[in-house]
Amino acid sequence: MSNNSKKIIVAVDGYSSCGKSTFAKAIAARLGYIFIDTGAMYRAVTLYAIEQGAIVDGVVDEAAVVALLPKIDIGFKFNSERGASDIYVNGECVESKIRSIEVSNCVSKVSSIAQVRSKLVAMQQAMGRERGVVMDGRDIGTVVFPDAEMKIFMTADAKVRAERRYAELTAKGDKVTMQEILENVISRDRADENRAISPLRRADDAELLDNSHMSVEEQMAWFMERYEQCIK
Ligand code: DC
Repeated sequence: MSNNSKKIIVAVDGYSSCGKSTFAKAIAARLGYIFIDTGAMYRAVTLYAIEQGAIVDGVVDEAAVVALLPKIDIGFKFNSERGASDIYVNGECVESKIRSIEVSNCVSKVSSIAQVRSKLVAMQQAMGRERGVVMDGRDIGTVVFPDAEMKIFMTADAKVRAERRYAELTAKGDKVTMQEILENVISRDRADENRAISPLRRADDAELLDNSHMSVEEQMAWFMERYEQCIK
């Protein structure tokens, strides 16, 4: 935990599966900050839409998803075993369900819906109002907190990212192939960069972190050097 009393917002944006959450979680633990995984929020809406029949066989009915929004109550609860918060939808913990390949395949489409973004962005801004948060996503430094004191834009080689995701999913027992994971990573990059609203882009004042060949410890050292400068 940092002794410094000045609380800031750390925005961590970047490509899918490049370890943003692992990195952001480690920073939050180090600084004694709250960690917010905004991708989990888009995934939670997607899961709920699948369960409620607004997405069938991978086809997203946008009007039906929008109609569900007032019925979705998203919350976080700290899980001390994981050292991070689990996400809840209407009181049910959906932390593991939201990482499935089915959700991954539909989440880009759901996150391109304007009403979905405005609901989740408003929630994220409320959660960061007191500062002292590390938030990871795609548009944190550009849209959610353009005034964040620290902005980091993460990237890594697509193949390295797919290998990491593959290891994570197969460790959980999911039956997936390396090829489908790589295709999902590449197609989500494309969708994130090309959507009309809040496309993924590096904020002009964000620092680039390519972690293809960096350990978590090396990334932390990289971060702490910049953090000490920032709070001086
Ligand atoms: O970080 P992730 O892969 O769990 O994110 C899931 C999807 O949500 C991703 O494909 C893009 C979208 N997303 C977004 O549009 N804006 C955010 N702030 C976070 C995620």
